[in-house]
Amino acid sequence: MKHRIAIVADRLGWEERRLIEAAPAAGIDAEWVNDESLGLGHRDAPAVRDHDLLLIRSRSYTRGGLAATLAEADGARVLNTASAIHTCENKLALRAVLRAAEIPVPDFRLVLSRKDYGRALEELGAPLVLKPVHGGMGKRVALVRDPDLAHSLYDYVEDLGHAFEQACLAEEYLGGGSVRCLVIGREIAAAAEFESAGTDWRSNAALGNRSRALGQDPEVRKVVDGVVDLLGPGIYGVDLFRTPDGYLVNEVNHAPAWRGVDSTTEADIASSVLRYVQEVLG
Ligand SMILES: Nc1ncnc2c1ncn2[C@@H]1O[C@H](COP(=O)(O)OP(=O)(O)O)[C@@H](O)[C@H]1O
Ligand SMILES: [Mg+2]
Repeated sequence: MKHRIAIVADRLGWEERRLIEAAPAAGIDAEWVNDESLGLGHRDAPAVRDHDLLLIRSRSYTRGGLAATLAEADGARVLNTASAIHTCENKLALRAVLRAAEIPVPDFRLVLSRKDYGRALEELGAPLVLKPVHGGMGKRVALVRDPDLAHSLYDYVEDLGHAFEQACLAEEYLGGGSVRCLVIGREIAAAAEFESAGTDWRSNAALGNRSRALGQDPEVRKVVDGVVDLLGPGIYGVDLFRTPDGYLVNEVNHAPAWRGVDSTTEADIASSVLRYVQEVLG
């Protein structure tokens, strides 16, 4: 029988549309299920009852993990797993477990107060990057090139953020370029250099530059293998910083965009994702 999957997302973006277009050829019935109307918690929620697998594509940093946890507890197959999503959602939790597993990450400090921030500045020095623990799309990721700016920037964190948003991460600035690896299962399906647009210092995976060889680089593969060993196989955007001492993991996106890397590979990524879904369903 044809497998039925739910693409659970806050909206139909480019990647979700591609998945829905490619589904029939992959022998899958795929439909978009809005993550605002899942009704999870009810043991007989249609999102769980009517699908063989839920592919979690929520961009929100709270919805994906909650939906995956509830659906999994009620017996649904969920991709990525709830535990992988929870680990990725929290930049700090992810850093800590990666570091404990001896996977290289940037030097970082948890910043919960101005005191923490002052200490991080002393220990890491400028330039320094301050970013929210729960964040995405590059929002509020700030580069402090000049220590003069440091404390007035923190006024905004203190005055405008709620407790949840005030949890920040300070880390060394690694300006040597960054790479997005799109992982499907255990494999690097595509990899590309990040690019920045205009005058914004932050680079964006959606603007990936063609680079076929990156995913074959043994050093990149070793770091990515370590990440997959830790999180379990799945669909991830693994973002690396290039440094003179090798690659460091910046973050792992659990609902990765792949538009930027799609052109770097002959294979159609949506079809590869669906093939992996079939593999998981057995
Ligand atoms: N420590 C850093 N050094 C250099 N660039 C960084 C650093 N942290 C973030 N950036 C830049 O900012 C962008 C967004 O930061 P990121 O940590 O990926 O958070 P988000 O979850 O918002 O994408 C990155 O793609 C990168 O270009
Ligand atoms: Mg990012």
